[in-house]
Amino acid sequence: MEYALTATKTEARAGSYYDRIARLYDLTFKLNGYGRSLDQYFANHPLPVSRGAKILDAGCGTGLLTLAMLRAIRYPVSITALDLSSTSIEAARKAIYFSPGRKRDVTFAQGNLLSLPFPDESLDLVVTSGALEYVPLADGLSELARVIVPGGHLLHLPCRPTLASRVLEILFRFKSHPPREVIGNTERHFRIVHHYRFPAPQAIGWSKTAILAQKV
Ligand SMILES: C[S@@+](CC[C@H](N)C(=O)[O-])C[C@H]1O[C@@H](n2cnc3c(N)ncnc32)[C@H](O)[C@@H]1O
Repeated sequence: MEYALTATKTEARAGSYYDRIARLYDLTFKLNGYGRSLDQYFANHPLPVSRGAKILDAGCGTGLLTLAMLRAIRYPVSITALDLSSTSIEAARKAIYFSPGRKRDVTFAQGNLLSLPFPDESLDLVVTSGALEYVPLADGLSELARVIVPGGHLLHLPCRPTLASRVLEILFRFKSHPPREVIGNTERHFRIVHHYRFPAPQAIGWSKTAILAQKV
C-alpha cells in the first residue's frame, strides 16, 4: 500500500482514489465556479492573518483553495499545501507554478491530516475544504486544533447534506458529517466567528458552507 507509512488502510484509500481522479475533481470544481466563489467570499471576509503568517491547507487537493488564498492575501505568508495524494499535490504544484501569484509563499507536503508534521501550536491559520469528510470528524478537528496557536483560526468549508452533495458523495466517495456534529466538534476547540451560507446562485452553496473559528 503506497501510503502505508503515513495512513491507515481506510485513510490511504482516499489518497489512492484521488491519485486516479484528481483531474476529474479539478475539472468539476473549476466548472462549478468554486474559485470565483472563494474569491468573493475572501473579498467580503478577509482572512484573519498578517504578514508572515504560517498557514496550512489541509487536504489541498489540486490547489484550488491555496490559489484562492494567494489571490486574496496581498502580503507574503508561508502556506503549506498538504495532501495524501501525490498526484493531487503535483497538480497543485503545477497550477501554482503557472499562476501569476507569489509562488514562493507555498511549499508542498505529502501527509495525513490526522498526523500532521507540525509541532503543537505552530500555525496561525488552518484552512480545509472537502478533506475532513474522509476522516472521523472528532479526530480530524482535534489534530487541526493541535497545530493552531491559541487565538489562531480555522477556516473549514464543510459539506452539508443536500441533493447536490449526495451526488458529490457518490462521485468522490466521501460522507458529509451531520451539521450538528460539525458545530459541536468545532466548539470543543474553537469559538465560532461566523457560519456563512454562500448565496443561492453560487453552485458552491448547494453543497458547502464556511465556518471561521478561533482557537480558544
Ligand atoms: C474533495 S478534495 C478537496 C481538495 C481541496 N481542498 C479543494 O478545496 O479543492 C479532498 C482532498 O482531501 C484529500 N484527503 C483525504 N483524506 C486525507 C487525509 N487523511 N489527509 C490528507 N488529505 C486527505 C484527498 O486526497 C483529496 O485531495
